[in-house]
Amino acid sequence: MNPSPHAPSDQIHKACQALANNRVVAMPTETVYGLAARIDRPVALEKIFQIKGRPSFDPLIVHVASRAQAKLLAKSWPKTAEHLAKKFWPGPLTLVVPKGPLVSDIISSGLDTVGLRMPNHPIAIQLLESCQQPLAAPSANRFGRTSPTLASHVESEFPEAIESGEVLVLDGGLCQIGVESTVVLCEEGSVTVLRPGGIPKTEIESAFLADDLHVEVRLAEQNKKAASPGHTDHHYMPSKPLTVYWGSRDAIDFHRNRLPSHYQEVSLPNDSRLAARELYASLRSADQNSQKSELIIYRDSQNHDLWEAIDDRLQRAATYRIGTPTRN
Ligand code: TXA
Ligand code: MG
Repeated sequence: MNPSPHAPSDQIHKACQALANNRVVAMPTETVYGLAARIDRPVALEKIFQIKGRPSFDPLIVHVASRAQAKLLAKSWPKTAEHLAKKFWPGPLTLVVPKGPLVSDIISSGLDTVGLRMPNHPIAIQLLESCQQPLAAPSANRFGRTSPTLASHVESEFPEAIESGEVLVLDGGLCQIGVESTVVLCEEGSVTVLRPGGIPKTEIESAFLADDLHVEVRLAEQNKKAASPGHTDHHYMPSKPLTVYWGSRDAIDFHRNRLPSHYQEVSLPNDSRLAARELYASLRSADQNSQKSELIIYRDSQNHDLWEAIDDRLQRAATYRIGTPTRN
């Protein structure tokens, strides 16, 4: 349930003014909260990197209110992008396409492409429509840390910037998807998944097949870091060491010698949609509430739906790993 899916118009008005005045707005989306700045405000864009502690080589994705607005930002718009935008927007899919002149090098980190996404959250859409400007926004967490799925998470990430008024937070309740968008590089005739996320790869394949289009959908090679520069091996990490165990809970006794002596368990529901929604909040609250020095998360191996994205995040959040996710 989303307690406040719409924001009162005065809040949106205030947020638009803040954005026009080079401030940064934490905006809810259906995936995670984003830290947003107008693409035509370089000072505010620089602030995002500074507030997050984000390296300048990691490009920002740009949020748009419509497909038409997206096309204005692209140098060219491959048929694969058109098809996926029609099928999945608004939604958790970021399309990487050649960038046009409206996208500065601050946003693209000097790459000649830009990631574009139309979010599916009423407050994000209200904001984008009222400002009449695309908004660049990474997830609203300190670089490398767990992404926020509640406004209170954002508040605990950036207390000083919020206190000083540099960052304004719009509360949209709990993010309904809970993991970030799938990022795909769109080329003519092929699509490469750079980061698994809210839309499973199989759904992207089905979207082309349903219309009898022969498009190759592949996974980016893990060792090609430049493909999605910010998606590093150590990411989404809680501050306490996290052990991820892939396997049946009953079999954990076989691994006793690899477990820490004091730990708190984080459990996830079996349904991947629910698990994705709860993942970051569970990690965050265990991290904050536990006196114990380590966290451990169990996950039974099955691979479908959003487990692809959840497993990717768990791999990167983990300090220690026992077992591996089963790939089908
Ligand atoms: O769901 C989401 O995508 C959230 C919400 C706020 O929209 N945003 C998000 O942004 O997760 P961020 O910056 O935390 O992750 C975006 C990822 C990064 O790994 C970045 O390196 C990659 O997308 N990326 C951005 N632009 C790119 C480009 N032109 N080429 C390749 N990868 C890109
Ligand atoms: Mg992020």
